[in-house]
Amino acid sequence: MTATAQPTESSARHDVEGMNFYTRKWVRPEDLNANGSLFGGSLLRWIDEEAAIYAIIQLGNHRVVTKLISEIDFQASAREGDLIEMGLLATHFGRTSLTMRARVRNMITRRSILSIDKIVFVGVDEDGTPIPHGYTTITYDRDRMPEPHGKIS
Ligand SMILES: CC(C)(COP(=O)(O)OP(=O)(O)OC[C@H]1O[C@@H](n2cnc3c(N)ncnc32)[C@H](O)[C@@H]1OP(=O)(O)O)[C@@H](O)C(=O)NCCC(=O)NCCS
Repeated sequence: MTATAQPTESSARHDVEGMNFYTRKWVRPEDLNANGSLFGGSLLRWIDEEAAIYAIIQLGNHRVVTKLISEIDFQASAREGDLIEMGLLATHFGRTSLTMRARVRNMITRRSILSIDKIVFVGVDEDGTPIPHGYTTITYDRDRMPEPHGKIS
């Protein structure tokens, strides 16, 4: 009899095209639509926030804004009580922008729930003007943050 290797917690969170699935959500009654399945607007709000945090870390700038979200493919629904996880991957570092790909899947079955091929965030200054970030590769650390946000002096 051959043993089948089970994915470890760590490998399971990195197995879609090198994507990291950092955030998990528990689908609750307030997240549902009238059909009793996950409301698309809730999911998009979560993804937008997740992408903002990812962009802040990658661009080393607390001021980032959503510029573009490409076609959104809701591939399967989620139900109350489901555990879902969101994954993001930087696909292009522009001069002032960052382009990411997003996936959402059921944490247990791994069934894909949503896919977005292109989410573009732009790093801006205090006036909302795009500023160059100077980065070309993904960081897996918090090394780009200039200083703790909201630091009390
Ligand atoms: C984001 C914003 C500052 C960009 O201003 P802009 O005048 O378009 O700036 P630029 O033309 O210099 O473009 C900035 C970057 O966005 C990219 N960009 C602009 N339009 C784009 C589009 N339609 N698709 C993809 N990228 C785009 C540019 O390529 C550029 O990237 P790069 O510097 O990496 O090459 C401005 O459009 C804005 O404030 N939008 C509202 C943002 C917001 O409030 N988001 C929340 C929505 S509720």
